[in-house]
Amino acid sequence: MPAVVLVGAQWGDEGKGKATDLLGSRVDYVVKFNGGNNAGHTVVIGDEKYALHLLPSGILSPGVIPVIGNGVVVDIEVLFQELEMLSSRGVDVSKLLVSSQAHVIASFHRTLDKVTERFLGQRRIGTTGRGIGPSYADKINRVGIRIADLFDPKILRAKIEGSLDQKNHLLVKVYNRRAVEVDAVLEELLAYADRLRPMVANTPLVLNNALDEGKTLLFEAGQATMLDIDHGTYPFVTSSSATAGGAVIGSGIGPTRIDSVIGVIKAYTTRVGEGPFPTELFDETGVYLQTKGGEVGVTTGRARRCGWYDAVIARYASRINGLTDLVVTKLDVLTGLEKIPVCVAYNVDGQRFDEMPDNQSDFHHAVPIYDELPGWEEDISAARTLADLPANARSYMQFLEDISGCRISAIGVGPARNEIIPIHNLLS
Ligand code: IMP
Ligand code: MG
Repeated sequence: MPAVVLVGAQWGDEGKGKATDLLGSRVDYVVKFNGGNNAGHTVVIGDEKYALHLLPSGILSPGVIPVIGNGVVVDIEVLFQELEMLSSRGVDVSKLLVSSQAHVIASFHRTLDKVTERFLGQRRIGTTGRGIGPSYADKINRVGIRIADLFDPKILRAKIEGSLDQKNHLLVKVYNRRAVEVDAVLEELLAYADRLRPMVANTPLVLNNALDEGKTLLFEAGQATMLDIDHGTYPFVTSSSATAGGAVIGSGIGPTRIDSVIGVIKAYTTRVGEGPFPTELFDETGVYLQTKGGEVGVTTGRARRCGWYDAVIARYASRINGLTDLVVTKLDVLTGLEKIPVCVAYNVDGQRFDEMPDNQSDFHHAVPIYDELPGWEEDISAARTLADLPANARSYMQFLEDISGCRISAIGVGPARNEIIPIHNLLS
């Protein structure tokens, strides 16, 4: 099975690394197809811990070719920072490929991200401040700068002028900021051109050729379903397609080439940033999940909001992504709770919703309808088969499978790579 898409089924930070580990050495290419350095994943290999924001996790696996697809927005400064950090620790980064069509995040995009958030005040999104939204906005407005533009200084200057034209009016007249100088941006971006050139490739062609040769490709989504620009909790979303469809657009392969779509979902729910979150807990149980689950953002250091598992969202993610498998992570965090509520439907102003409301304000008013399951006390981190789990943990997982719209193919029972219960083969 050569083309596998991996997506988050909630609001991000589901622990996609667990599923990546299960695919292991069979993967030849790991492709990032959306987002930028707003992502954050921690990869632990032996005693070494690596925090990555922009680079696909495949960069750490010898033999894997990591690819930054056309759908990504690239902060080139961050790209080189991460590459230097890895090289200095002995990681071979020479195989990385970057799409010539990926868009660039320049310093003025970061500035705009922060200024617009401040301007939104109460209505702020709670972005990561990395310039993601402004760079995608330029792409859609057709005033973006692409990687390939860096190799033609004349074109690059014209593109920067085009991009700054309206922004400088806005910065000066609305936001009370200094105008951005074209020359400064030109210098900033040209400084990277020579180092970048050897990595730049026609990645859609490379990936399609790899598929023709029977190679195994993993398309790894940044962010998650509920943060998707179309299918998430708009406007409290990121600015890219974080669902399975994004893998097609953001990498240049056709939808008929995808064989399976794995959704990763926590045994409870977390969210960073603003926006609706029906099962959010505001009591000590929320703090318990936050502390026990180590729920702190890798990119921003913000404490994550925590709540119970939401099966309405699981079914929605199964549907929107066409999931073939669910990997449930962090089941061990629930150990020690007497009762575990699971949201099975919503009550919206007296009306029951079994599926995601189509209307944004209904979702904002959704009150969870819970089924309560009995908890367990036993340490489950050593479990490697379903039979090793206490009966109540097994029942909890069976319950989730019955109401989540997709089979559960693996269960994470601890932070280490091997702390997992494999159930179905993810490559079959
Ligand atoms: P942006 O992606 O920086 O524009 O932020 C938009 C929203 O997406 C904010 O609520 C962020 O907290 C959230 N977000 C962006 N990237 C991630 C991620 O990798 N994990 C979780 N939340 C994210
Ligand atoms: Mg993360």
